[in-house]
Amino acid sequence: MSPLDVERIKADFPILNTKSRGNRLVFLDSAASSQKPLAVLDAMDHAYRHHYANVHRGVYEIAERATAEFEKARAKVAKFIGASEARELIFVRNATEAINLVAYSWARANLHAGDAVVISHMEHHANVVPWQMLAAERGIELRWIPMNADFTLDLTRLDILLDGAKLLSVTAMSNVLGTINPLAPLIAAARAHDAFVLIDACQYIPHVATNVRDWGADFVAFSAHKMCGPSGIGALWAKAEILEAMPPFLGGGEMIRDVRLEGFTTNDIPWKFEAGTPAIVEAIGFGAAVDYLDSLGMDAIRDHEMRLTRYALDALHDEFADRLTVYGPRDVSIRGGAISFLFDGIHAHDISQVLDEDGVCVRAGHHCAKPLMRQLGVPATSRASFYMYNDEIDVDCLVAALIKAEKFFAI
Ligand code: ALA
Repeated sequence: MSPLDVERIKADFPILNTKSRGNRLVFLDSAASSQKPLAVLDAMDHAYRHHYANVHRGVYEIAERATAEFEKARAKVAKFIGASEARELIFVRNATEAINLVAYSWARANLHAGDAVVISHMEHHANVVPWQMLAAERGIELRWIPMNADFTLDLTRLDILLDGAKLLSVTAMSNVLGTINPLAPLIAAARAHDAFVLIDACQYIPHVATNVRDWGADFVAFSAHKMCGPSGIGALWAKAEILEAMPPFLGGGEMIRDVRLEGFTTNDIPWKFEAGTPAIVEAIGFGAAVDYLDSLGMDAIRDHEMRLTRYALDALHDEFADRLTVYGPRDVSIRGGAISFLFDGIHAHDISQVLDEDGVCVRAGHHCAKPLMRQLGVPATSRASFYMYNDEIDVDCLVAALIKAEKFFAI
């Protein structure tokens, strides 16, 4: 039995009690963006109604309250991921911006022509393109960790790939395959070669209890919108001494200590990396989101999603056998709840469109992971992805809609 009361959880999410195309909304696209509970909507609404003002600037009461709530949110998010200090948590727009911040600030200060950056075949474009841009600009060598046939990373040549590398940048959980990568050996190998480590934890942190200090990485990127928080805000965590040594990324207000005709000096971390008016209310929503996740318990969420993913994998296999290919591991202990699949001879977009008619929302496409798609030898997949508000009934609706879709295209 699930450790979560999913019926009660569904009631926390107003949108899940609405209809799509006249049917009950079956939302199976949380890997793209999760839905938001009332607790988050209310916290944001309350902030706008009662203490909205710019932060770190005004000396009047509501500005002081806005600043206090904004910094309280930072402390909550930092605690949620096990950071030792709130100042190690930089608010950014999303995980993509967090990775770009590292590429523009740390990497441009520390990497030179001939240095190598190691990434993997299962990275999202956000963890590919910034390094390709750097490679084009600086003559950095990009090396790729390949994938095994079972959708796990092939670590057999890891030491060779890391030899002379300055950075290992990998995803903790693939947004396409669901694969959870073995961070402990990856990080240990990088350390043995004195390489820095960046973890794209965008898909992982929303679903699995995380302690960034235990990981021992240098940089961790994630987004609020995939973990019940609003879009427009995410975070970069890094060790304080690394952030302190990094040059600023964007220039403007807030990130300075002083500006003179001759130049500027920078603010303390984290504000050194937060130029301009930040996403104030979104930060408050982010804080409310981690409170919500904490109230359910991350272990219970992971347990629930493992059960549901197993149920879904079994149901797809039982119903469609070899006519449907699932791209991702079968072992739920090494995967999350994003299930990519394809029917023989039916395009992913066509399937997703037919599912939409029944109110079933899945994503179709390359999932911003074209290098991975090329490895898989397919242009696109359909992807169903789960969160704590999904249950077996949602999976049954998916299977029923897929049966209809298969019949439709067989005609
Ligand atoms: N990265 C998001 C996804 O996988 C948008 O759908």
